[in-house]
Amino acid sequence: MLKVKHVSKTFNKGTVNEKKAIDDLNLTIEDGQFVTVIGGNGAGKSTLLNLVAGVYPPDCGIIELNANDLSLLPEHKRAKYIGRVFQDPLMGTAADMEIQENMAFAARRGKKRTLRWGTSKKEQEMYKKQLATLGLGLEDRLSSKVGLLSGGQRQAITLLMASLQKPDLLLLDEHTAALDPITARKVLDLTDQIIRENRLTTLMITHNMNDAIRLGNRLIMMYNGKIIYDVSGIEKQRLTVEDLHEKFRQAAGSELSDDRTVLI
Ligand SMILES: Nc1ncnc2c1ncn2[C@@H]1O[C@H](COP(=O)(O)OP(=O)(O)OP(=O)(O)O)[C@@H](O)[C@H]1O
Ligand SMILES: [Mg+2]
Repeated sequence: MLKVKHVSKTFNKGTVNEKKAIDDLNLTIEDGQFVTVIGGNGAGKSTLLNLVAGVYPPDCGIIELNANDLSLLPEHKRAKYIGRVFQDPLMGTAADMEIQENMAFAARRGKKRTLRWGTSKKEQEMYKKQLATLGLGLEDRLSSKVGLLSGGQRQAITLLMASLQKPDLLLLDEHTAALDPITARKVLDLTDQIIRENRLTTLMITHNMNDAIRLGNRLIMMYNGKIIYDVSGIEKQRLTVEDLHEKFRQAAGSELSDDRTVLI
């Protein structure tokens, strides 16, 4: 369970560029919840995920994962508990390493280091099985360099790597935004499949309102560093994109403006 309590974050404090990105935010996510996050540009969505991942500390407030105070763990140690996939397909995998080497790296994350870098037959069989679930034919290309793959294939592998060790929390920040629409849909379907099969507790930022409604079992809308709308269950299933615009209008007093939002 993730608990964010009275967390604030201001960038460039005391300068003309001062920006309160997160403003006394409270959020509790129960185990197994799949939460989609929407909001306009600069609403604080990525900042929220970065605070949880430990990219930088909050100015105040507490972030707990399974009742453990995360501030005691630096970013690289949180990686054992938190899986992440970002917008940029180049970020999650090492281009000049083979698919199986990338997988081995993810599988050994947080475990004791070993000098042995090769992958055993048993490990290769396991990776093959896992890659086959993606349905992209990558199980026959274990020794291909990841740099040769398409953006969608790399994002799918990053997703698989992020979920290999069943993280306590999965953070997705617009991880399909850089892909063409057909590949994006495929990776998103895979995301849904992996999250459901492993019952992963997930926070997924998206600019696509239809995806935010269609996927997950809870939706939160952010504005000016705060959560302005939080909906789950049947009420979420019944939402329409127009409802979301109306909610935004009510809470923010303006139209939801966003250069990447899919408005239909
Ligand atoms: N590292 C940083 N240094 C300075 N300002 C930052 C930093 N990160 C974010 N900000 C500012 O904080 C605010 C919130 O940014 P954030 O990236 O969280 O928004 P977002 O909701 O993810 O927006 P988008 O939909 O455009 O990705 C913005 O005004 C942004 O310019
Ligand atoms: Mg962002």
